[in-house]
Amino acid sequence: MDPAGWTDQALARPTDLLLAVAGGDIPHPDSPVLRNDPNPRETPVELSPNVQRLRPSATIAVSTLAKRLRAEGRDIIDLSAGEPDFPTPEWISDAAVAGIRDGRTGYTPAPGLPELREAVARDLERRATSGWAPEADGVVVTSGAKQALFNACFTLFGPGDEVLVATPYWTSYPQIVGLARAEPVFVSGAEERGFRLTPADLDAAVTENTRGLIICSPSNPTGAVYSRDELAAVVGWARERGIWLISDEIYRWIVFEGDGTDDGGEGVSSAPGVMDLPPDQVGPHVVIDGVSKCFAMTGWRIGYAVTEPELAGKLAAMQSHTTSNAATPSQLAALEALTRTDQARRAIGEMVTAFRRRRDLVVARLREHLPHLSFVEPQGAFYLFMRVDAEFDDEVTDSQGWCSRVLEDTGVALVPGVAFGDDRYVRLSYATSDELLEEAVRRLAEGR
Ligand SMILES: Cc1ncc(COP(=O)(O)O)c(C=O)c1O
Repeated sequence: MDPAGWTDQALARPTDLLLAVAGGDIPHPDSPVLRNDPNPRETPVELSPNVQRLRPSATIAVSTLAKRLRAEGRDIIDLSAGEPDFPTPEWISDAAVAGIRDGRTGYTPAPGLPELREAVARDLERRATSGWAPEADGVVVTSGAKQALFNACFTLFGPGDEVLVATPYWTSYPQIVGLARAEPVFVSGAEERGFRLTPADLDAAVTENTRGLIICSPSNPTGAVYSRDELAAVVGWARERGIWLISDEIYRWIVFEGDGTDDGGEGVSSAPGVMDLPPDQVGPHVVIDGVSKCFAMTGWRIGYAVTEPELAGKLAAMQSHTTSNAATPSQLAALEALTRTDQARRAIGEMVTAFRRRRDLVVARLREHLPHLSFVEPQGAFYLFMRVDAEFDDEVTDSQGWCSRVLEDTGVALVPGVAFGDDRYVRLSYATSDELLEEAVRRLAEGR
């Protein structure tokens, strides 16, 4: 049986497929030489050590592949997406359109429009429960949270530095640390705790070269959310050692339960973040946030780093020589999202209600139809991290092989866990309709 119409195509392993999607021109990580240069020269191109270990983003590659296969007429259910399936609220888009019509199309200061930096600071202050009043001078608006992470890592770390990366990790962290030519060091919490870190886990990984720690809550890919006490323990550990904490809080409003912080508006709460802890318990830090996920604005490319003004100045200086500033109309849209608070909370509330319902649906159906596969029960974001090594056999020995077989047999696209540092798992995104989720689990259960 071939529901997805795959067998007429020579199905390579996903690694090959992913490379094909990414253009096929990526040199092997061990090779500094671009071997398949489309315009061969006599002397091969030497690439800088900066990019020797660079790999393309597996999540983007799987999504691109799924889109391509669907465009070719195959029946694909794409559960690889890293973005909400909702459109940006219209009133946010309107602000950008109005700005363009008003001629607000020139450069802005490198760290962003002053009114947007102020709005970010006030948004964080509104949510903070322990006395934080972030300064607008400490906010740097970037082209997506990804650039905020890049700016922070590139500015803080370099050769010889080790950066602890909470594992399973969002796929770009080690690559970004590697671009700074620092060394990512993977540290994982206990599986039965949803991999959340404790100081004991960190003690086992720290060395005299450790300069940074990257954590993410709610987590991509597990959906795990640190409680305030758990976060306080990890943050305190970093502070005592003078280690830079990079806390990625991009999913902070997409949280389903737990001791999240009540923002006081529309019943929407947020996951505990660094600024829910008393300032004297927090050491050197950069909070990474943005509007991509919580406002369904992935394509607008607006993120921000929030830190002390001195470091913010360096981050802005770096940005002034790379992208100059985030796109001006996008900044105007983000300004609207962060200042029309009541409307924003309502929009987020509706989205979170849908994600919670889908989370419940997927969890129930997986337990019902695939009881032999365990998973981290998601408390936030819109991902489920499922352990599939119970199904490995002579032919399928890793997460890429498993995803390849599932794509071939059922047309369901998932992301191999190896992209997140755990080859026993796969990531399922439930940012899609209830009907497609029902159908996907049915196919996963019956397609074997
Ligand atoms: C944990 C995490 N951090 C950062 C980002 C990047 O966000 P942006 O699209 O704003 O660059 C993503 C996007 O997938 C993410 O999942």
